[in-house]
Amino acid sequence: MSLFPLHLQVATLEHLPQIVELDQVCLGGLWTLDGYKRELESPNSSLLTLSIPLNPNLDKIIGCGCFWAILEEAHITLIAIHPDYQGRGLGQFLLYALLKDAVVRQLERATLEVRVSNNVAISLYQKFGFQVAGRRKGYYQQTGEDALILWRGDLHQPEFKTQLQQWETEISDRLLREQFQVYLNSFGSMPNSRNLSSSNSARR
Ligand SMILES: CC(C)(COP(=O)(O)OP(=O)(O)OC[C@H]1O[C@@H](n2cnc3c(N)ncnc32)[C@H](O)[C@@H]1OP(=O)(O)O)[C@@H](O)C(=O)NCCC(=O)NCCS
Repeated sequence: MSLFPLHLQVATLEHLPQIVELDQVCLGGLWTLDGYKRELESPNSSLLTLSIPLNPNLDKIIGCGCFWAILEEAHITLIAIHPDYQGRGLGQFLLYALLKDAVVRQLERATLEVRVSNNVAISLYQKFGFQVAGRRKGYYQQTGEDALILWRGDLHQPEFKTQLQQWETEISDRLLREQFQVYLNSFGSMPNSRNLSSSNSARR
């Protein structure tokens, strides 16, 4: 069985034009290039990408996710998977990676807003223990749609580390079934994953 390399990385300047494109396709243009540049420059922002190599010199960004560390909270600002790659477990992988990074930053809770009609995203967040804590009326200006406010607590509790490990195994198995070989850099390791640095010689 041949596997497709899937890279999880912290976003770099080179990634930004493709991230802006992805944002336009998935989120209708949430942030501009300058907005994403500010994320890279902010020590309180974690902007992660998922990419697959198109050719030896070019990676295609197929997913990105971001949170802001504010006090002890992770404010998840976006998560997006390119429509061609949705429904294959990549959204779960990205959310897992954001939460793992939040734990590394010693954050205690995670929160986000989601459109009330976005059942796919709501279902994804609920899988990771997010619960509805409130509603912002007419939060989305273009449509007047309400936002649900979701929270996930206990990131700093030992049980959450155990939970992360369980998700790691499940997500790893799922990605393997979807024929992805995961490469990580600063994200430790997962079952079936390889370290990014050890993959460079294989890629280039
Ligand atoms: C939300 C989003 C990130 C999910 O990414 P994805 O890669 O498609 O999600 P996954 O394949 O990892 O699926 C995760 C879970 O979402 C739910 N889900 C996925 N596709 C679904 C569908 N078509 N219908 C209902 N639920 C679905 C399921 O609960 C699924 O878990 P399961 O596969 O174990 O059943 C992606 O749909 C997306 O980018 N949407 C546009 C941008 C967006 O709305 N972002 C969220 C708000 S910021």
